[in-house]
Amino acid sequence: MTENQEKSAIVVKDLHFSWNNQTKVLQSCSLAVPKGQFWMLLGTNGSGKSTLLRLLAGLLPADQGFIEIGQPIGFVFQNPDHQLVMPTVGADVAFGLVKEKLTPEQVKARVSEALTAVNLGEFERRPIYALSGGQKQRIAIAGAIARHCEVLLLDEPTALLDAQTQLELVAQVKKLVETRGLTALWVTHRLEELDYCDGAFLLEHGQVVAQGEPDSLRQRLLIMDQG
Ligand SMILES: Nc1ncnc2c1ncn2[C@@H]1O[C@H](COP(=O)(O)OP(=O)(O)OP(=O)(O)O)[C@@H](O)[C@H]1O
Ligand SMILES: [Mg+2]
Repeated sequence: MTENQEKSAIVVKDLHFSWNNQTKVLQSCSLAVPKGQFWMLLGTNGSGKSTLLRLLAGLLPADQGFIEIGQPIGFVFQNPDHQLVMPTVGADVAFGLVKEKLTPEQVKARVSEALTAVNLGEFERRPIYALSGGQKQRIAIAGAIARHCEVLLLDEPTALLDAQTQLELVAQVKKLVETRGLTALWVTHRLEELDYCDGAFLLEHGQVVAQGEPDSLRQRLLIMDQG
């Protein structure tokens, strides 16, 4: 392992994936996300962002290539209604802990700690249906915090949120990364969110074609738009 890899929470090398051996989605895709940082993944519709996240989470098998990623992984989907499965907030956050051998007291402590981390400490008994979209996304993130996830993968978590709630969520994830040493990879189309990340990747035709600090990537995207 190279020194660079040791300091990365996510390493992808020469990854290939195609659907049904036909549509090539990822072609020699490589990237590395440093431990304890917040990176974003940009790219046009169909460029392979969601597919890459699924491969990283082990939800799809790669055709070829190398993936190394810190465990456990938390996954946050675009639509939290596809993710929250229990009737109340507390039960939902606890649901992710069923496979861990914890006492009821330990589960209670983990749930309470995770809800506090996303500023929803008072919401434990709240029914899921009585939450706003932004609150549901924070509950999905609390589920990952309760499982003590090292890596958080978020697929357009703000797509259904209004502008204010969008920026609150991205600020919250930035804070969680800073305070808990988590590593996060966040898929987005919204360039204003770049202000919150340490760096970003641009995916085109299944390959990372640009990467770097938010400002340099923004410049690059503006130039591409004009060209
Ligand atoms: N289950 C599937 N079966 C076959 N092809 C698929 C499947 N899911 C996605 N694809 C195709 O794979 C390609 C990449 O899709 P993906 O969802 O990864 O793109 P994306 O970058 O996340 O796009 P978006 O910005 O629209 O979310 C697209 O051409 C898509 O049609
Ligand atoms: Mg997608």
